[in-house]
Amino acid sequence: MSKPNQTLGEFIIENQSDFAYSSGELSRLINSIRLAAKVVNHEVNKAGLVDIVGAYGETNIQGEDQQKLDVYANNKFIQTLTNREIVCGIASEENDDFIRIEGHKGDHQNKYVVLIDPLDGSSNIDVNVSVGTIFSIYRRVTPIGTPVELEDFLQPGNNQVAAGYIIYGTSTMLVYTTGHGTNGFTLNPALGSWYLSHPDMKFPESGTIYSINEGNYVHFPQGVKDYIKYCQEEKDDRPYTSRYIGSMVSDIHRNMIKGGIFMYPKSSKANNGKLRLLYECNPMAFIVEQAGGKASDGFQRILNIKPTELHQRIPFFCGSKKMVEKAEEFMRVSEETKKDQAQELSFSNK
Ligand code: AHG
Ligand code: MN
Ligand code: MN
Repeated sequence: MSKPNQTLGEFIIENQSDFAYSSGELSRLINSIRLAAKVVNHEVNKAGLVDIVGAYGETNIQGEDQQKLDVYANNKFIQTLTNREIVCGIASEENDDFIRIEGHKGDHQNKYVVLIDPLDGSSNIDVNVSVGTIFSIYRRVTPIGTPVELEDFLQPGNNQVAAGYIIYGTSTMLVYTTGHGTNGFTLNPALGSWYLSHPDMKFPESGTIYSINEGNYVHFPQGVKDYIKYCQEEKDDRPYTSRYIGSMVSDIHRNMIKGGIFMYPKSSKANNGKLRLLYECNPMAFIVEQAGGKASDGFQRILNIKPTELHQRIPFFCGSKKMVEKAEEFMRVSEETKKDQAQELSFSNK
């Protein structure tokens, strides 16, 4: 139940019992993320002052090394989660391997692992365009009391117990789900508190926005090309509007409010697309599904995919249910046509 003016802290306490294994640990974990997010938000907001405080990657006027913002955000989230001893392991888009956290007693007693894209859309920082952070939380599958293993991180997205994103935009928001709907909180920077501004978010069932990097058009599979042409056709509520920020969090956040589809398909240059299954697609898929939207790799549900490696990439179609279904239809038809043509060719060669 959401109440007017409810803060994130109040909301977490009130909804703690929604969570199947409620021991307060997950609540503490989300509390840590909101804390780190505030620190990162402060740093992201200073990005425009680089000429004054020194460019990232250089030494600032205090003689300190300025970290690049994605490294800064990575360190902040990892430090906060490690110091508070809330998780037993962290995997980050910025690190080659996962990190084991044993706790100060060295007894590996914590239950949860966190996977994180600390700064999504980081190339947009220099031009003052919104960026984000994406996180995903699982219960470990190996026994409590032992060090975490790779298998604790390679779980299908279906197993997520919580996922969320922070969008550092014209205002800063934290949007998250624990499997009971998706809720959005806006940071009041004067008070440092997050307020429930978007209770029970709902992805419109259909929409009129399509978001894709069309510069890659010639490299896209035929199904994607056909779907783009469909979006541009003069019929019914089409042509749709094209909107692409190049910050997935911001693109999906906008589409979730207005209705639309976001796509990062495979291409002849990148066989699995660009986006990471574990740090980007799974958490966004969970959040979007909990808001009534849909997320797919073009053929199957993202959350059903069993990951095989930490930094695995996957084609991603995510957004309003009907629009994603339509894109899948184009993918299917084009695959079938391709198969038929190959078969005809092999018959005619016999
Ligand atoms: P990151 O900054 O974490 O590497 O992610 C950037 C991603 C995503 O946010 C965005 O949608 C996509 O890259 C944009 O890629 P293109 O520039 O290839 O369109
Ligand atoms: Mn990213
Ligand atoms: Mn990133």
